[in-house]
Amino acid sequence: MTRPLVTVIGAGNVGATAAQRIVEGSIADVVLVDIVEGLPQGKALDLAEAAPVVGHDMRITGTNDYAETAGSDIIVVTSGLARQPGMSRDDLMTKNAGIVRSVVQQAAAHSPGAIIIVVTNPLDAMCHVALEASGFAPERVIGMAGVLDSARFRSFIAHELRVSVTSTHAFVLGGHGDTMVPLPRYSTVGGVPITELLEAERIETLVDRTRNGGAEVVALLKTGSAFYAPAAAVAQMVDAILHERHTILPCAAYLQGEYDVDGLFVGVPVKLGRRGIEEIVEIELTDEERAAFQESAASVQELVDTLARLAAEAPAEPTSGEAGSESSEEGTETAR
Ligand SMILES: NC(=O)c1ccc[n+]([C@@H]2O[C@H](COP(=O)([O-])OP(=O)(O)OC[C@H]3O[C@@H](n4cnc5c(N)ncnc54)[C@H](O)[C@@H]3O)[C@@H](O)[C@H]2O)c1
Repeated sequence: MTRPLVTVIGAGNVGATAAQRIVEGSIADVVLVDIVEGLPQGKALDLAEAAPVVGHDMRITGTNDYAETAGSDIIVVTSGLARQPGMSRDDLMTKNAGIVRSVVQQAAAHSPGAIIIVVTNPLDAMCHVALEASGFAPERVIGMAGVLDSARFRSFIAHELRVSVTSTHAFVLGGHGDTMVPLPRYSTVGGVPITELLEAERIETLVDRTRNGGAEVVALLKTGSAFYAPAAAVAQMVDAILHERHTILPCAAYLQGEYDVDGLFVGVPVKLGRRGIEEIVEIELTDEERAAFQESAASVQELVDTLARLAAEAPAEPTSGEAGSESSEEGTETAR
């Protein structure tokens, strides 16, 4: 039986760390791809040489050639540029859209049956680009954001209540940005909602910290953005899909009427399995939660509209020749 194969595009911080988690967790073989010559080859070789010490038999290779990614079960897209001095957010969005479009077209052509996990920011808008560029069915294009945002919320809850992170559960829905919607009512410790365990004021503090989770890491790092937790989130999604776990995780999914949203990628709970998104889980929301979710969806719509306007103003420029830089920035100030 052949082992599953995961292509990770972008051998930067998130991509290389996700590749490491995937092989060292014995989840799948990995092909690491980057536009910079030598970068994916060097990182893959280094990771392969760690295998005897770590004790796994997964294969990891690095390449600049998409032919080597053929037959992948999953394509993880982390390639992108950081915002450089003088570059506007719109410029960044246009550039990253060009990169995502180009890498997805090439990877999808070699792996027409794959499932795509989008990581590049601005996340929700890049999911739309990947959907269009691949021509895949919407359940096979999934954005990674909610698992990361929920993990941040869970870590803060565990720390606050001095319990194991494994006893916590949390849902953060909506777009990956300032308007994300952490749901305290559905966030539990040992099955008990945190609304019964913490004062409203403390919960609000944890929710705020979650919303600013990306920015908090960036402020400490000074250059670059979070990658350990994002990579762990990617690996969990890959594992859930390849092992047909039917895990329910918050992911950016293309909504077609669910939650009263149509034709937009927004973070919602989904069931993941070999077909990608096997089900979009609709949970009951209070009026207040629903309003926050709608506001978040509206901000995603704004991003998508901006992207369409920019594309109309400046017909697609070739960006596949551009390399990334040391850090990455995304569409909002806080979500990384
Ligand atoms: N969705 C999330 O929750 C989340 C979390 C963290 C980071 N991100 C985003 O993930 C992306 C990657 O972050 P990072 O820290 O790894 O950045 P990074 O700069 O370390 O890595 C990006 C890599 O992409 C490569 N690249 C650029 N253009 C390419 C192309 N055309 N083809 C192939 N490779 C190309 C670069 O050479 C670089 O190695 C960023 O957009 C970042 O904002 C998203």
